[in-house]
Amino acid sequence: MDSESRLRTLFPRAEIGAAISRLAEEITRDYQDKRPVLIGILKGVFVFMADLVRQLDFPLEVEFVRLSSYGSGRETSGTVDVVQGLSCPIKARHVLVVEDIVDTGITVAFLMDYLEKQEPASRRLCALADKPSRRRVPVNIDYLGFTVPNKFLVGYGLDCDEQYRNLPDISFLED
Ligand code: IMP
Ligand code: MG
Repeated sequence: MDSESRLRTLFPRAEIGAAISRLAEEITRDYQDKRPVLIGILKGVFVFMADLVRQLDFPLEVEFVRLSSYGSGRETSGTVDVVQGLSCPIKARHVLVVEDIVDTGITVAFLMDYLEKQEPASRRLCALADKPSRRRVPVNIDYLGFTVPNKFLVGYGLDCDEQYRNLPDISFLED
């Protein structure tokens, strides 16, 4: 059996598009006069960020950080390192962190603490997907696309060992 035959579609691209339109409306309502800094967590967020910001028609800035939490495979290592940090100061800025999927919560909880030390004016979280059954540390998601089951998801930026990021739909890998 080749690897493609183990993929089952969970959210087709049209459903993802509809979720992003809804998120963009909510974010526009809250941020259109705030010139926010959107901070994406690489690599998984690159597709979501690209689609989201193109639906936000007001002044904003885009930054990325690269954190390591997953060495490889499907399990978090439990410790997080900043591999590539911010290139602009965020003191007194309105910050919106953009994440692909919140799983144990360790990555995003770490980033929120890291950013708080830089004294932003506000700090919220937008996530495309939330897998609450796997949570190990509490995380408050202010703007959420989908709540997802405890399955390993790929596509739309999400990878398994660096494969499948290019697929337009979100699928899960069957065991
Ligand atoms: P956490 O620290 O356990 O919340 O993991 C967060 C990171 O793990 C996310 O930014 C994703 O890149 C990755 N991740 C978590 N669940 C999945 C999944 O189902 N598929 C692909 N990547 C995932
Ligand atoms: Mg990943």
